[in-house]
Amino acid sequence: MPHQYPTLSIEQKKELQDIAHRIVSPGKGILAADESVGSMAKRLTQIGVENTEENRRQYRQVLFSADSRINSCIGGVIFFHETLYQHADDGTPFVQMIKDKGILVGIKVDKGVVPLAGTNGETTTQGLDGLSERCAQYKKDGADFAKWRCVLKISTTTPSQLAMTENANVLARYASICQQHGIVPIVEPEILPDGDHDLKRSQYVTEKVLTAMYKALSDHHVYLEGTLLKPNMVTPGHGCSAKYSAVEIAMATVTALRRTVPPAVAGITFLSGGQSEEEASINLNAINNCPLPKPWALTFSYGRALQASALSTWRGQKENASAATEEFIKRAEVNGLAAQGKYSGSGDSGGAACRSLYVANHAY
Ligand code: 13P
Repeated sequence: MPHQYPTLSIEQKKELQDIAHRIVSPGKGILAADESVGSMAKRLTQIGVENTEENRRQYRQVLFSADSRINSCIGGVIFFHETLYQHADDGTPFVQMIKDKGILVGIKVDKGVVPLAGTNGETTTQGLDGLSERCAQYKKDGADFAKWRCVLKISTTTPSQLAMTENANVLARYASICQQHGIVPIVEPEILPDGDHDLKRSQYVTEKVLTAMYKALSDHHVYLEGTLLKPNMVTPGHGCSAKYSAVEIAMATVTALRRTVPPAVAGITFLSGGQSEEEASINLNAINNCPLPKPWALTFSYGRALQASALSTWRGQKENASAATEEFIKRAEVNGLAAQGKYSGSGDSGGAACRSLYVANHAY
């Protein structure tokens, strides 16, 4: 049996662990604002706004100009490369605006999904080439954590063993490289909600995918205390005819996580995966109230479920900017409560926050 050669010093480990804990300290989660230029095209087209660099900047400014109310519910913001180097109207760098609120800055470092030849439409994620150099630069430019998204699909023939093994390995390589540069890796093996599978199958696949990934992280000597996991919640497929309560979804999710995620992992930050804003908050709240022992922080790292109302309020108009910012603050506060199991629901089942945000075969 080989032993591990020294990799991270005690100081490096402490730095990673401190960063991870700050991001997920009680009542805090993550704003995923790292949509690629291509994903932003889809978001902006929906509201009739052209996908230009200036419009993307204006939109991110709507989110980042939220006042101090978000300081207690947002622990980290994930940026896309372009956004990391953009400024607000008054010249303040976006990175500075976020750091001034005591919020940590993260960066999406993967370069998107690509086909895995010979599989039934499965993918891996590229971006390892030059990653070490990019991490070194991003750390200098203010980033303390990173995100890398892999995608798995549920069907009668998938996920294949190849897709699980390959995606686990690429996530482990990415995590190992980030940690060498003082960057906390968020590992994201997203299982898409596409399909008509039931809750049980979703739980089974989630357990297999996470088990393969934590084996790979161990093989690559990744320091788990300095990582965060970004999983899907265990939900039925989008096309499943059976309906499940938030309590059932929470039980399936926490059961799968307890069977597969080591307690050393600093925190679990769920993606919203096409759930409506309200659904994502209610389910997170139920997860935090699940009666099973939960050794990690269980919180949010939402893209769509933190931004949908803000985006549709903004509509590219300057005069709507502050109302849109308020919508974002509202969702951030609600999810901060849900992350502590203290959210009782909006009581409004027909509002915009209840609209499904599902996108088939979602890219990011
Ligand atoms: P959603 O919350 O919109 O699923 O996206 C989160 C994310 O960052 C996916 O990588």
